[in-house]
Amino acid sequence: MGLGERWYEIREAYRKIVDVYERANKIVTLGNVDRWRREALSLYYSVNGRSVLKILDAGAGPGNMAHHLRGTRYLVAFDASIEMLRLNNVADDRVVGMFEQMPFRDESFDLLISGYALHAAVDLEKAAAEFSRVANYQVVVAIGKPDRRVARCLVLAYAKFVVPRVVCIVAPRQICREYGKIYEIMASLPPNSRIRQIISRYAHIVQYREKGLGSVYIYVAKSRNHA
Ligand SMILES: C[S@@+](CC[C@H](N)C(=O)[O-])C[C@H]1O[C@@H](n2cnc3c(N)ncnc32)[C@H](O)[C@@H]1O
Repeated sequence: MGLGERWYEIREAYRKIVDVYERANKIVTLGNVDRWRREALSLYYSVNGRSVLKILDAGAGPGNMAHHLRGTRYLVAFDASIEMLRLNNVADDRVVGMFEQMPFRDESFDLLISGYALHAAVDLEKAAAEFSRVANYQVVVAIGKPDRRVARCLVLAYAKFVVPRVVCIVAPRQICREYGKIYEIMASLPPNSRIRQIISRYAHIVQYREKGLGSVYIYVAKSRNHA
C-alpha cells in the first residue's frame, strides 16, 4: 500500500474520532494523557532551559501538546488530518501532510514536538529521519510496545479488550471500534528498544522514559549532523 492510500486511512480514522478525542484519551490512559505531554515538555525545558523560537507540532491534532509550550514565537501545526487541524487554534500556521515527506527545508525549526502520533507513522524510519532533518531538537511522546514479555501481554490485552469498551462510555459504538485500532497499531510496532535504535540513527537521545508499563514512551533528542 502506497503513502497516499495510508494517508487516506489515517485521515478517515482521525476524522471519525475527532469529536470524542480528548475525552476518550483521558479514559484509556486512566487520566494520564495530558500529564505525559506536560512531562515530555518539562523534560525538554530541564535539558535546554531557554525558550525556543520556531516550533513544529508534528501530528498536532487540536494542539493539545502545544498548550504546554513556553515562550514560543512561531508555531506550525502539521498533520495528515484536515479535520483535526481545523480544531487547532493554538498554531500560527497549519500545514497538511505526512511525516514521511515533510514539506519543510532542513533545520527549519528549533524544536519539533509530537504528542501521541509517531506510532501512527506509515514508515517509522522515514518519519524519524524527517523529524531530525527539519528540526534541531525533538520532544516526542508516543504509544510504544513494552520489551518485557509480561508487560507486553498485559498492555496488548488492555488495548484489545478494555480500550474499545471503555471508550463507549463517552462515544457511540462505531467510534469505539476505531479505538480498537490502537491494538492493531501497538501489535504491529517494534518493541521500544528497537524504536530507540531507529530514532538513534538520526538523533542523539538525551532523555528517555517509559510510562504505563511501557505502553507509552517519551524522549528528548538532539538531531544528528546539526550545529
Ligand atoms: C492522536 S492525534 C495526536 C494529537 C495531539 N498531538 C495530541 O497530543 O493529542 C495523532 C495525530 O497524528 C496525525 N498523524 C498520524 N500519522 C501521521 C502521519 N504519518 N503523518 C502526519 N500526521 C499523522 C493524525 O492525523 C492525528 O491528528
